[in-house]
Amino acid sequence: MIIVLNFGSQFAHLIARRVRDMGVRAEILPHDATPADIRAFNPAGIILSGGPSSVLEKGSPKPHADIFTLGVPILGICYGHQAIAHMLGGKVTLGKHREFGKETLLVSKRSGLFKGLTPKEIVWFSHGDQATKLPKGFSAIASTDSCTYAAFENEKQRIYGIQFHPEVTHTRHGKTVLKNFVTDICKAKKDWNMKTVASDIIERVKEEVGKEEVVVGISGGVDSLVAATLIHKAIGNRLHAVFVDTGLLRKGEVEQVGGFLRKNGFKKLRIVDASKLFLTRLKGVSDPEQKRKIIGHTFIEVFETTIKKELGKKVAYLAQGTIYPDRIESAATGKNASKIKSHHNLTLPEKLGFGILEPIKDLYKDEVRRVGATLGLPHELLWRHPFPGPGLAIRIVGEITAERLHILREADAVYMEELKKAGEYEKIWQAFAALLPVKVVGVMGDARTYEYVIALRAVDSVDGMSADWHKMPHELLEKISGAIIGKVRGANRVLYDVTQKPPATIEYE
Ligand code: XMP
Repeated sequence: MIIVLNFGSQFAHLIARRVRDMGVRAEILPHDATPADIRAFNPAGIILSGGPSSVLEKGSPKPHADIFTLGVPILGICYGHQAIAHMLGGKVTLGKHREFGKETLLVSKRSGLFKGLTPKEIVWFSHGDQATKLPKGFSAIASTDSCTYAAFENEKQRIYGIQFHPEVTHTRHGKTVLKNFVTDICKAKKDWNMKTVASDIIERVKEEVGKEEVVVGISGGVDSLVAATLIHKAIGNRLHAVFVDTGLLRKGEVEQVGGFLRKNGFKKLRIVDASKLFLTRLKGVSDPEQKRKIIGHTFIEVFETTIKKELGKKVAYLAQGTIYPDRIESAATGKNASKIKSHHNLTLPEKLGFGILEPIKDLYKDEVRRVGATLGLPHELLWRHPFPGPGLAIRIVGEITAERLHILREADAVYMEELKKAGEYEKIWQAFAALLPVKVVGVMGDARTYEYVIALRAVDSVDGMSADWHKMPHELLEKISGAIIGKVRGANRVLYDVTQKPPATIEYE
């Protein structure tokens, strides 16, 4: 496997994912992981990520000096490249600006790390400091117009530094460079495939849980579903699944997910219909944060009561669908941060005294989906767009009523159906309908109508942190609008949202 030491780069996860895409296991560790921490993984190689600091700043993050004597190949990227030059006796000079941009790399050695590259390569740099003198035993293997030592190596010690970012897609042959390092230089074993990952997880759950019982909260989302399926395969009916129906879910969601679990042999599934309770508590509330709080607290209350009342002291573990990016903080400290995923679950573990079981905590979202596919989960469930914990409540602006919920749920279902029929759904990162609490005038047949406005949102994004509005074909928008107005009573106007995030958020509240 490959260790990625994280110096605070926004791309540390991308490096790990690229390595895993080659079928090689990769783990991200904090930049100051000790040689003992690293040795415990028995890595075939180490990659030092980029980062926002300058190696010349006092107190800037540095790897432990002894990692250079571990005898495993090391590749430094950007900041990592400068850290190597700086720590092994070379020289780094302060750069003027730090911007991300395209460069032409003149490759002087087209073997080893750069095997298969052309003499001139398009690469992406984040400009900043530069190595201006190489450490002893190192030689340059590429340059640019403004950077003599854009890449260097010490072939004997198998230490490499590259100023550019091979992990971003703009670097044309970035994948080749990473592959040369991981498979040729490190000779890392390709044993990261989703079938063995799934069976390893199942074995680990068996060991960890022993003869105890486990409870898992099903949210309707992919993560909890895959986690539950893995645990069920490991311990069968000693897994209790609790699905709280908040009444704020999408149309057919409870039936679809519940039906799937039952069909797949989940005998201990409890679907708790708490929709009336949620609606009562949300009556008259229109402040978004207040809504979130009420929903979070009510959810915990219902979940906790169900467990206490129906499961008594039988259960020893609470399972959560925490995934890899939830655990690893990508911020400047690069420290490992174990955190509880959903705001719903925040206070559950301590209060109930459960052990926590996180079967998919080492997987990225796409890996969770691929594991799900090897377990036979239906494509439609695995590829559903993200859905927020507070559900439809933050897609009805203002007060929530049963009528508004009904209108929105129907409109959203029609929207999703049309997107799927047109083959557009999987091109979009997240799409949904929102209800605006204003009534506007329309005409239907001979009569005037006075009804709600439905806003359609569809965004392209990578992680939801920023998003662009999806350039939906006009004919499809027309079809969706017609279908909603035709089928949904209570809405007489459809708008398409063309705002980016920032400044808007993806959700309406
Ligand atoms: P915003 O609206 O903040 O959404 O641009 C970014 C992503 O986060 C989801 N989201 C939530 N998820 N609880 C959740 O579990 C929440 O309170 C919440 N608010 C927003 C949203 O759906 C989008 O994918």
